[in-house]
Order: sequence, then C-alpha cells, then structure tokens
Amino acid sequence: MVKIAPSILSANFAKLGEEIKEVEQGGADYIHIDVMDGHFVPNITMGPIVVEAIRPITKLPLDVHLMIENPDLYIEDFAKAGADYITVHVEACPHLHRTIQLIRSFGAKPGVVLNPATPVETIQHIIEDVDLVLLMTVNPGFGGQSFIHSVVPKIRQVKDLVDSKGLSVEIEIDGGVNKETAKICVDAGANVLVAGSAIYNQKDRKAAIQQIRENIES
Ligand code: DX5
Ligand code: ZN
Repeated sequence: MVKIAPSILSANFAKLGEEIKEVEQGGADYIHIDVMDGHFVPNITMGPIVVEAIRPITKLPLDVHLMIENPDLYIEDFAKAGADYITVHVEACPHLHRTIQLIRSFGAKPGVVLNPATPVETIQHIIEDVDLVLLMTVNPGFGGQSFIHSVVPKIRQVKDLVDSKGLSVEIEIDGGVNKETAKICVDAGANVLVAGSAIYNQKDRKAAIQQIRENIES
C-alpha cells in the first residue's frame, strides 16, 4: 500500500491546524514537514517549535525533512518536539553514520535524503541503518517545481539495493509529485509519496489525495 505524505510547505500557515486535519481526514498517511535554514537551501521555513505545535493536533506520523546544515545540532530538539521520522541530507552530513545513530538514540526513525545529482552509491554502506530513503525529484528549497525525470532510474536502484539485502526500508519521493508522476514513482519502486502543491493547491484536498491513489492503481 502506497503512503501519501502531504507537505505542509504549500499549506496556508495562517490556519495550519485546519490544513493538517483536512488532509488527515482526506486519507493522508504522514505529514511531511520541510525544515529549511537559508544556508543548505535558499529558503527559510520552520523549526522545532512548529513541530511541537502540530504534534497534538494529528495522530499521523510526522515526517520531518531537514534541509539544514549541521543537523546534529537540532536532532534532539526535533525528536523531543514529536518528530517520528527525521531525514537528513547525505550532502549535509560528513559523518552520516553518526548522525543516523544520533536520530535513533532519541527514539526517532532515521531517514537519508539524496539530492537529484547525488548517486545512490553514497548510501550503500548505511542502508541497513535507516528506516527510510528519500529521493529528491526537484532541487530542494521550494514547493511547486517540476519533477526531474532523470531521477527515476535512482528509484529502481534504491529498490534493488533494499531488496537485495532483504530489508524493509521505505522509499519516499519528494518534489513535483502529482497524479501523473506518482504512478511513474510507484512503478519504479517507491512506497511513500510527498505531495505539496498537488494537494494543497486544490480546493478539495481529499479529492486530490484520492486522485493520486486512483492513478497509481490504474
Ligand atoms: C522541496 C520540499 C518538498 C516540497 C514539495 O524542497 O522538500 O517537500 O514541499 O512540494 P511539491 O510537491 O509542490 O513539489
Ligand atoms: Zn520535503
């Protein structure tokens, strides 16, 4: 069963609670939270204080995507704020194994993220240590960008790596996912789809989620 993770980056922040409840009632599986620091990516969004505010209003797992430099400094804060998954960029972690252990030590599920240009080989030695691999299908920083199709072979490559080791690591895709590109991702082996603008830019969020699901199954 494919999971849908709406990204609140495209939600209306003036009524964030309602925006989250709407996608929860609409059949979302995770809430994807994009954390940006203005250094690793050219945009600034939210920190642990927002995760803490969201935690009591939904039962869904909080999938926290850290697009920040020096993530080790903030992992404890995000875990204590209620993050279920904490994903860090390979490109921002010189001591990736240590960072993954740190996430686990605070009781959160570790995930690793690869930018479009970063090869899958960078995670082959830590694949056994993570719960999730997130492949970026846009350059991180903004919602509403177009899906980069040249990443699709990497999805298959991660799927083969995971299967060859008999692991149950989740494979998540983030960036430009809509009802058309969702099927391409799932056919290549993805099982979690982040969607920001494709859900939050629609008036009826439940219908948007359903449409993505229907297209995957068709
Ligand atoms: C981009 C973020 C994404 C973003 C996706 O840097 O990591 O999660 O919200 O937005 P869409 O689905 O609109 O491409
Ligand atoms: Zn994201």
